[in-house]
Amino acid sequence: MKGKAEVIVGMQWGDEGKGRVADAITPKSDVIVRYQGGANSGHTVIVEGKKYIFHILPSGMLYSGKTCVVGNGVALDPDRLFEELDELSSQGMDRARLIVSGSAHVVMPYHKILDHFEESKGLKRRQGTTEQGIGPCYVDKFGRTGIRVCDLMHPDMLRDKLDYILGLKNQIITRIYDEKPISFDALYDKAMAWKERLSLYVGDCSKVVTQALNEGKCILFEGAQGTMLDIDHGTYPYVTSSNPTCGGVCTGTGVGPKNIDRIIGVAKAYCTRVGEGPLPTEDLEEKGQYLREKGREYCAATGRPRRCGWLDLVALKYAARINGTTHLAITKLDVLSGLEEIKVCVAYDCDGKRSEEYPVDTHILSAAKPVYKTFKGFSQDMSEAETIEDLPQVARDYVKFIEDQTGVPVVILGVGPDRKETIFRETR
Ligand code: GDP
Ligand code: IMO
Ligand code: MG
Repeated sequence: MKGKAEVIVGMQWGDEGKGRVADAITPKSDVIVRYQGGANSGHTVIVEGKKYIFHILPSGMLYSGKTCVVGNGVALDPDRLFEELDELSSQGMDRARLIVSGSAHVVMPYHKILDHFEESKGLKRRQGTTEQGIGPCYVDKFGRTGIRVCDLMHPDMLRDKLDYILGLKNQIITRIYDEKPISFDALYDKAMAWKERLSLYVGDCSKVVTQALNEGKCILFEGAQGTMLDIDHGTYPYVTSSNPTCGGVCTGTGVGPKNIDRIIGVAKAYCTRVGEGPLPTEDLEEKGQYLREKGREYCAATGRPRRCGWLDLVALKYAARINGTTHLAITKLDVLSGLEEIKVCVAYDCDGKRSEEYPVDTHILSAAKPVYKTFKGFSQDMSEAETIEDLPQVARDYVKFIEDQTGVPVVILGVGPDRKETIFRETR
């Protein structure tokens, strides 16, 4: 019997609540896999008031008896991985078995340094990256000058490879950025220390996942970032350097597309974004401020305030198409409570022409003005709600409107940040 595979994918600009939705689904999953991104992510899970933030590890690490996998598509910073593992183990919460793909690319110290220089030295357009070395690491992956986890396991070969790659990086660091070169010996020693610890976890992601499926197990693929930050389908060039969209699962783990059964898109009941780039529904005034304060919209990875605005259905419908989303999880519905009115973007005004189609041309998107439908506000507290029937009628209408517009059923609702503040609308 073949097992089941489902994907959690961000439908907006990241920080939709993927971590809490992954946590909600994990009890019914056996293997939880991260397929792209790296320590640019921050996935928050809150259990009885205690907060855990995952950067590289899948959110399934909190449960015992699970297997968690860091897939080949992840940009892996070993220092950050070990920090996370140590933090969890100090709390007795490193409960799952961990496997790290030998084909994952390693974020090297020079990647982080270059990310920082690119952002701060004024030679390149600022992106507002997380400065975790993600872009430079993926550049090396595609430029075929990357170091993979499996390379760390071969000290002599690594020495040769690092020698020539560091030579190239130091040319950039000294000649373009006028900074001090990185010491080869210190870098090599670091890599050898990583080897010691990583060798405990190295495995073959594709094999682990396929075998589990063949044994009838359930796999959960946990995406990072979101569709609108996707390198191919997002608001290029203001994107991250990987494929958070569903296609990233196949390349980032080595599983065939026919194995995927359900694609759960996670979206907030409004929109947020961190860093540069267009956000058509951004509200720079009082309502945006309200959403930021009530929703505690400060980035889990960097602490930066998130830009906030109304739900963008044009972008959400686009994300549903790109991912083939089969189900939706809408989080932070409770944050809308207390507003006199709630707006939803149903179309864009592009140069005087109304369009319900998302323009992939970022220049056009940047000039697009949102056309809104307005809902009456509501003020009830939702944290105790157990079913959708417990919610105020306006909130139910709002959810129904999202379903009608996207054509995708909403099966999970977040009505507060805690694990228990989750409404499931179906049994699996
Ligand atoms: P992720 O990167 O997609 O996992 O999302 P983040 O963890 O970066 O950001 C989501 C934030 O919203 C976190 O602080 C969560 O604790 C919080 N959150 C998630 N779902 C809900 C919800 O339904 N209601 C409220 N009030 N907060 C939520
Ligand atoms: P999670 O998984 C929100 C944004 C950065 C920047 C752009 C490129 O928590 O949803 P990068 O460091 O990736 O090169 O930065 O992407 N970004 C995120 N925004 N949530 C994230 O992850 C993000 N990861 C990257 O702010 O605009
Ligand atoms: Mg986040």
